[in-house]
Amino acid sequence: MSDLSLITPVQKKEDIALDLTLRPRLFGEYIGQKNAKENLEIIISAAKQREEPLEHMLFYGPAGLGKTTLAHVVTNELESNIKVTSGPALERAGDLASLLTNLEDGDVLFIDEIHRLNRAVEEALYPAMEDFRLDIVIGKGPSAQVLQINLPRFTLIGATTRIGLLTNPLRSRFGGLFRLNLYSEDEIEQILFRSSKILNIPLKEEGAKKIAKCSRRNPRIANRLLKRVRDFAQVKGNGIINDKISKTALSMLEIDDLGLERVDRELLRIIIEKFNGGPVGVQTLSASLGEEADTLVDVYEPYLMELGFIARTPRGRVATAMAYRHLGINHNEPLF
Ligand code: ADE
Repeated sequence: MSDLSLITPVQKKEDIALDLTLRPRLFGEYIGQKNAKENLEIIISAAKQREEPLEHMLFYGPAGLGKTTLAHVVTNELESNIKVTSGPALERAGDLASLLTNLEDGDVLFIDEIHRLNRAVEEALYPAMEDFRLDIVIGKGPSAQVLQINLPRFTLIGATTRIGLLTNPLRSRFGGLFRLNLYSEDEIEQILFRSSKILNIPLKEEGAKKIAKCSRRNPRIANRLLKRVRDFAQVKGNGIINDKISKTALSMLEIDDLGLERVDRELLRIIIEKFNGGPVGVQTLSASLGEEADTLVDVYEPYLMELGFIARTPRGRVATAMAYRHLGINHNEPLF
């Protein structure tokens, strides 16, 4: 993926500090995701009343919508502690064992990208989730022995962008599954105003509206754009983010009214001009675009599909009449 890409929802190095500063700590500060929030608030209150650990939770949905943030909020609401890791970081069952044995009763273990756990680690996780127990196999063959270790009563929070890649045994061990959805433009505006207060950025209503429109309804992208527009306002304006400054800054960044970047438009153009509107397979498309197939599927496609610009068919991707219209290309026989 190109390093310049501003609209990738995947966390970049420069986002880490920003995410930490802007991350809401409690539900009261968390904007949007009403359904997940309301349900979690009830489940947490009930668990606290019963003085039981919270059931294991799984958060899924596109990158940048606040799965990690929500895990931290849940931990704070529980007045507990969190340990953070990710599927690919846990290489051996022993890595998991050392994390789990260092937890305390009521702690949260957060595993990001949980669909990328390897089999040995995933299997070690089953008894840990179900019975707070680790089964460690010592030795090999007929003389192998199983050592059982009791674990603290912890809560696992898993996060994934690919719920479909989770195995059934793993998925079924979660007590609650929550899908995070794209935010509304109004919610993104509220997030922008909250962020601008924290970062001390003068932001006008019209400026916020413009940035929200280009944010792909994703807070991570919105906050990133806010920072870039702020730089522009400081150098080319009087520091205040208004309608005009936002408009000029975003067009300099080659981000259009719908939040599409150059690479998105290039993707649509390839389908339309090289492949006659499609259908074209993902592998072929990714080779033409010079991006990995996973990046194409995880980063670029979701929003283009959400806009109704591309459709998946059994024979590959097709560009819709709306995509032609957006690019100003004539399209006499609408495909849809
Ligand atoms: N910053 C990023 N995501 C947020 C959210 N959902 N609520 C408030 N601030 C945020």
